[in-house]
Amino acid sequence: MSESTSVVLPNGRCAPIVGFGTWQASEEELEAAIDNAIEAGYRHIDAAPVYLNEHVIGRVLKKWFDSGKIKREDLFIVTKLPPTGNRPESVEKYLKKSLKDLQLEYLDLYLIHTPFGFVEEGDDLHPKYENGDMKMDMDTDHLAVWAEMEKQVVNGLTKAIGLSNFNSKQIDRVLKAAKVPVSMLQIELHLYFQQKEMVDFCKSRDVPITAFSPLGTRGLVQLLGKNDTLPDCMANPKVLEIAKKHSKTPAQISLKHLIQKGVIVIPKSTNPQRIKDNIQLFGWMLDAEDVAELDNLDQGAKGRICDFSFLPGTNKHPEFPFK
Ligand SMILES: NC(=O)c1ccc[n+]([C@@H]2O[C@H](COP(=O)([O-])OP(=O)(O)OC[C@H]3O[C@@H](n4cnc5c(N)ncnc54)[C@H](OP(=O)(O)O)[C@@H]3O)[C@@H](O)[C@H]2O)c1
Repeated sequence: MSESTSVVLPNGRCAPIVGFGTWQASEEELEAAIDNAIEAGYRHIDAAPVYLNEHVIGRVLKKWFDSGKIKREDLFIVTKLPPTGNRPESVEKYLKKSLKDLQLEYLDLYLIHTPFGFVEEGDDLHPKYENGDMKMDMDTDHLAVWAEMEKQVVNGLTKAIGLSNFNSKQIDRVLKAAKVPVSMLQIELHLYFQQKEMVDFCKSRDVPITAFSPLGTRGLVQLLGKNDTLPDCMANPKVLEIAKKHSKTPAQISLKHLIQKGVIVIPKSTNPQRIKDNIQLFGWMLDAEDVAELDNLDQGAKGRICDFSFLPGTNKHPEFPFK
């Protein structure tokens, strides 16, 4: 059991164990939310070009740097190579575009967002056919892309590189070829989808893990119209009982269950009180029996929410990870 506030990456640098998610927040909401998050003590921000808001994050960060209250080296900033950039010749271009929008000189971590790739059509990050299917690039070559990601570390544009949404077979292929370590796997993890095999797999290979959607992403559930079929893990009676026992919120219990296992969490909120609550995770521990009961809430494969069904046709890509 761990009460660490950070996770040491293979490059020896530390990533704060609680980060701030930025998906599905409007411009105004996000601007205020990041201000609130930095005030509340978050020093790790998770971004992505496909969230269409890196420029907002950049604006807020610049304001904080200009104020002198925060220095660049105090922060851990993560962003991702979008599916439209998932080919070797596009990596540097997309990384530099993110740096420009974030108004930064370097990233702390750059991830390949998905194992599948889309074709490039101007600035459109979600190119689609008329029937709504994504226009995919079927020739995605992970090893060639990884080699180009490694060059970005050597060139100083990012301190570390990693993967997101890859399956264990895909990760192992990259690991075997990697000259620069795979410093992170970012995957969906929450009480109803605990992916124990994947967590053990990463542990055995010294790949740190970030849990995305650590609260069970009600925003995505709504987007998918699955409110009735995908229950809210934070409303589970066992979670409510453990929350009451520790005088904590259900969200704090869900997040603590992950960080106590050494997994980084990146909850998203635009609500000022929740932003504060979601980082109040230190100075208390779940008991072994709480952990065992929370472990038992896992629903296996049916607990997966982010199955990319909101990007139709991706399951036909040869590198679709969840077959
Ligand atoms: N790599 C990937 O493919 C990938 C995929 C998905 C997400 N992500 C990253 O992971 C981050 C987090 O995931 P997510 O945004 O999908 O979902 P999440 O963090 O699991 O859940 C966010 C939802 O929970 C609500 N919430 C936040 N704190 C709460 C609390 N204390 N009590 C009750 N409800 C609360 C939020 O509403 P309010 O805002 O109203 O509080 C929002 O609706 C994203 O923002 C993104 O940065 C990465």
